[in-house]
Amino acid sequence: MIRRVDWSGLLVAVVIAVPSGALRAQAAADSAAPDMCASCHASLPMERLAGPVTLFADDIHAHQGFGCVDCHGGDPTAPGFASMDPRRGFVGRPVGRQVLQVCGRCHSDAGFMRQYNPGLRVDQVVEYSSSVHGQRLMGQGDTAVATCVSCHPAHQIRPPSDSRSSVAPENVATTCGACHADTVRMQPYGIPTNQLERYQESAHWEALSALGDRSAPTCNDCHGNHGAAPPGVGWVGNVCGQCHSVMADYFATSRHAQVFTAMGIPGCAACHGNHAIARTNDTLLGVGDGAVCVRCHVAGAGGGLVAASMRQAIDSLHASFMLADSLLQTAEQAGMEVSQPQFDLENAQTALLQARTAVHTFVHDSVQRHVDEGLEVTASAITRGHGALDDLRFRRVGLGVSTGVIVLLIGSLVLRIWQLERAS
Ligand code: HEC
Ligand code: HEC
Ligand code: HEC
Ligand code: HEC
Ligand code: HEC
Ligand code: HEC
Ligand code: HEC
Ligand code: HEC
Ligand code: HEC
Repeated sequence: MIRRVDWSGLLVAVVIAVPSGALRAQAAADSAAPDMCASCHASLPMERLAGPVTLFADDIHAHQGFGCVDCHGGDPTAPGFASMDPRRGFVGRPVGRQVLQVCGRCHSDAGFMRQYNPGLRVDQVVEYSSSVHGQRLMGQGDTAVATCVSCHPAHQIRPPSDSRSSVAPENVATTCGACHADTVRMQPYGIPTNQLERYQESAHWEALSALGDRSAPTCNDCHGNHGAAPPGVGWVGNVCGQCHSVMADYFATSRHAQVFTAMGIPGCAACHGNHAIARTNDTLLGVGDGAVCVRCHVAGAGGGLVAASMRQAIDSLHASFMLADSLLQTAEQAGMEVSQPQFDLENAQTALLQARTAVHTFVHDSVQRHVDEGLEVTASAITRGHGALDDLRFRRVGLGVSTGVIVLLIGSLVLRIWQLERAS
């Protein structure tokens, strides 16, 4: 059953004037006959004209019972070429703003879409219109920007949950990169074209692609799906904070948050970058090689002093943890029972993680508090590790003594037997 679409109920959201009647189609719903548009097109020798028929068979719109006329207009009941008469609402190949009208006719109509999927948003056209893409298209008539079909290729439209979809998380980067990494296309705008390349070096891409972690961000998680814009300085932290909420909360209360906003420094991105965000480690902290703090602070004063002392605190816990861990491992390999202290040591691992996270307060005491908690755990583990090794030594000495006694006993027995044999 194909539900009728009311072409005349064209959304108010589409800001562009619609050529009158251009989109008024008598939908294929009128007849249960085979789609004449598709059958003629399938027989045409040109790939450009026949290709869409094959592709469309696996498009979500075909699965929902829509046909060619639902986007292209025209009258499939009219014979031959008459079906493509503009007076019968045929729009041909929609370009530029026409694409918005075609897609928005259904996707901006909440009442219509609810019949199919009540959970689906209906603000794509509105959002798009507010994006850099939309503003350039509608304001300046720039057709080099993305329209609906740049990101959702016509006749192969699939929901983001389908891994073959152009907008499935693992495919979004290449969908955006098709333009943004194209130096010729982007040349007139004078913006960088390295986002795809740099993103593919990031910990985020590694998590998404290699580890299959769909919670890791790709382009649209930071830029919006339809409202694509570079996150402004003010809200870069908000973007990252959607997922890294603890860091974002700490950072928000810090001295940096106050001064960075005033100085136009982009929050998290000031230390982590934006596209090529790498895995972190302790060398980022402090005043040594590879530390981010020395980009703005000098060693031995103000923030530099705090950076060095936080690093020292974290190093001390890390070293203590390593010692405890290796002692317990040695004891375990020698067959001693140390599973309980090994289990307890996991709390020190957690404290270490918390201390690294607390760096984002940029206050020494917040880091030290977690370090102290961790050191208490490692101290106890070290004591228990030494204890186990002492026990082991004691047992070995004990074993040596008893072996000696047994050997002596056997020796004296042998001697006695020998003496008895000699005497007989
Ligand atoms: C009898 C065969 C036939 C039928 C029926 C037919 N088409 Fe076509 N269609 C063609 C041919 C041939 C062309 C190429 C025309 C040209 O290049 O000038 C074409 C072109 C098109 C184009 C591309 C227009 C462009 O500007 O590039 C679209 C879209 C299209 N048809 C959609 C439809 C739809 C929708 C229907 C049904 C309402 C339909 N066709 C019915 C043969 C047909
Ligand atoms: C969901 C909407 C939608 C449906 C349904 C749809 N099309 Fe299209 N079609 C488009 C859009 C949008 C374009 C323009 C694509 C572009 O510019 O990248 C297009 C382009 C075309 C073209 C021109 C291709 C070219 O490269 O010049 C043809 C031919 C065509 N469609 C035929 C069909 C036929 C036949 C059907 C039915 C089997 C169909 N379309 C169903 C939206 C649709
Ligand atoms: C005739 C009405 C109609 C037109 C025109 C139309 N769509 Fe759809 N579209 C739908 C319906 C209905 C669904 C199915 C919703 C569902 O089942 O989730 C859908 C599904 C989708 C989905 C998958 C949504 C999801 O996550 O399930 C995308 C993406 C999409 N359409 C994009 C487009 C684009 C881009 C265009 C224009 C080229 C377009 N649509 C034109 C009605 C339409
Ligand atoms: C710059 C690329 C881009 C453009 C342009 C674009 N989309 Fe999308 N669209 C996406 C991405 C990415 C998703 C996947 C969102 C997700 O993962 O939830 C999406 C998802 C959707 C969905 C599924 C529901 C939703 O909102 O998440 C629909 C429907 C849709 N788009 C329709 C449209 C329509 C209609 C247009 C034109 C007004 C359009 N899109 C323009 C990238 C784009
Ligand atoms: C069809 C080509 C095309 C596709 C696909 C495309 N874009 Fe764009 N995008 C452009 C063009 C052209 C501009 C205009 C550049 C400008 O104004 O500086 C632009 C502008 C932008 C901007 C604003 C840049 C600035 O600072 O001016 C962002 C952010 C952006 N796109 C993100 C995305 C994302 C994210 C995707 C994928 C979900 C995407 N784009 C897909 C062509 C495209
Ligand atoms: C983790 C978040 C994040 C991801 C993922 C991301 N971006 Fe960005 N992007 C940013 C931030 C933040 C800025 C703004 C930088 C600034 O203002 O200094 C930016 C800036 C941009 C710009 C403006 C030009 C520039 O390079 O400064 C474009 C275009 C862009 N990104 C496109 C993309 C594309 C395409 C992808 C996917 C391949 C992507 N971004 C992935 C956060 C992200
Ligand atoms: C959509 C959720 C999401 C967004 C938005 C996001 N991230 Fe991530 N981030 C993740 C996930 C998931 C990982 C991988 C975690 C893992 O595998 O350990 C990650 C990893 C990281 C790492 C590496 C952590 C490590 O173990 O060393 C850093 C640093 C990072 N993100 C910073 C940022 C910054 C800065 C932003 C904003 C520009 C941002 N993230 C935006 C989800 C997100
Ligand atoms: C002033 C520099 C700076 C700023 C600003 C900053 N970070 Fe960090 N971040 C660091 C340093 C240094 C580390 C490494 C700490 C360590 O491992 O000892 C780190 C580590 C991380 C990690 C990995 C933590 C872990 O558990 O291993 C994530 C995720 C992260 N930052 C996210 C963020 C987010 C999100 C923001 C913004 C809200 C942000 N950072 C702002 C310097 C910064
Ligand atoms: C992008 C530049 C920048 C980076 C990178 C940076 N800071 Fe800062 N930091 C500042 C500015 C600016 C101030 C404010 C100085 C003031 O209050 O006069 C500040 C203040 C501080 C303060 C407060 C000290 C005081 O004297 O009030 C601490 C602590 C601090 N930073 C620690 C760090 C640590 C630790 C790192 C590395 C993880 C770091 N900063 C990285 C720019 C930076």
